[in-house]
Amino acid sequence: METLDKQSALRLLTLFSGAVKGTAFYPDSHPAIRQPLLELDKILASALARNPSLSWGIIDGALFFEDHLFIAPSTAIVDLINRMMEKDIGRIIYSAGLTFDELQHLVRLFSVKTASFDKLLSLLQEEGVTHIRLLRNGEESFEEHSTDDIEAEVEGDYLATYGRALDAVRGVCRDIERGRIPNSAPVIKVVDRMVSITMQEHSALLGLSMIKDYDNYTYNHCINVGVLAMALGAALGLDALEVKDLGIAGQLHDIGKTMISKEILNKPGKLSSTEFDEMKRHAELGSKIIRDMDGLNPQIAQFVLGHHLHFNRSGYPDWARKLPFNQMIDIIAIADTYDAITSLRVYQYPFNPRAALNEMQKLAGTYLDGSLLVNFIDMMGKYPVGTLVRLDTNEVAVVYRPNPLDAETPMVKVLIEADGTRLSIPRKQPLVGQDGSRYADIVAIVDPALKNIDVGKFVAIGNY
Ligand SMILES: [Fe+2]
Ligand SMILES: [Fe+2]
Repeated sequence: METLDKQSALRLLTLFSGAVKGTAFYPDSHPAIRQPLLELDKILASALARNPSLSWGIIDGALFFEDHLFIAPSTAIVDLINRMMEKDIGRIIYSAGLTFDELQHLVRLFSVKTASFDKLLSLLQEEGVTHIRLLRNGEESFEEHSTDDIEAEVEGDYLATYGRALDAVRGVCRDIERGRIPNSAPVIKVVDRMVSITMQEHSALLGLSMIKDYDNYTYNHCINVGVLAMALGAALGLDALEVKDLGIAGQLHDIGKTMISKEILNKPGKLSSTEFDEMKRHAELGSKIIRDMDGLNPQIAQFVLGHHLHFNRSGYPDWARKLPFNQMIDIIAIADTYDAITSLRVYQYPFNPRAALNEMQKLAGTYLDGSLLVNFIDMMGKYPVGTLVRLDTNEVAVVYRPNPLDAETPMVKVLIEADGTRLSIPRKQPLVGQDGSRYADIVAIVDPALKNIDVGKFVAIGNY
């Protein structure tokens, strides 16, 4: 999932430059200004729907837009570079929520050749522009970003990583459908990135595991299982290579389903015993495919083979029950069960995160490894990421990060105010201030379905 392809980035910059030039000659309402602005607004809005922020700027005299560098620029881009240099602008950052009016203000300010950087800043502020930020040339130091900006950028990066993981698993499944041995490189690359994040802070990516997609369940489920298994592995103190194997095994654990008929996979009711036998083949089929893939630890194929064997080894494939398997299959089984029961399916209303953990406790010692489950529950915390809670202020908020120091005060974003107003931009609200002052206590868990809230959307993206 790329933020913006190079073609669209170029189109966007050209439109911007065109609108700026036009503003010198025509009033705002003239089609020569309005048309490019409308198109510009549309492209930006759709890219910002996938990313909390986007930016273009100048680096060593060349213009860059996100990952794209325009080394042999068009006239439109040269004009844009000149205007940015004149105004001493190093970078322009757009954040989600950007309005058409804000964009129009920026274009108008750009068309005034003499406006200095400070003047621009104060004019933007006067006009109430809050979703566009200008950085002075050379003002790229990390310290100057506010904590919120850093968090938003980091979470934007996490989201992009999630998108790349989805693309990688989709690619694997496409290769299987075409009868090819899947390319493992994209999966390895994205898991490497996830491992380095997880080894630093094992709960960092947990919010991503709340992204659910009813229509593409298998892909999201695979990524989520990978994220959860890696987090549990890291929390257990496994080393980076073991966590990486868990990530890859998680992301590939159900790829064998690509070879099972869609009627069986999507059947709303109970499967017949023949259908269930067919479904059970996915573990073995997946493991065979993985064995043929390049550059993967052969153990990964074993983890996938054993992911439905259960802790008491009463599961399937029957013939594999007596084989020696290590704890890794039980870690994946916990991640698999948690993601499965917190997702909406044709045959199942999802459990909220806390209820899911309670439900899983019933399986301790039989299907799931009880001691690993204790570790998992500890890691998820009293209010796991994605839990919707009511505060004693009567506000409704969603938990987006655990607080390892105090289970009672996880990090939350307020979604609904005390009077029932839904916030268009949820507010990050520390439950306890830095000086120790209390904002609110959590008094209840709220069912997201009753409030019609897609929790994953708010948990994963920093700015929302
Ligand atoms: Fe499975
Ligand atoms: Fe699964």
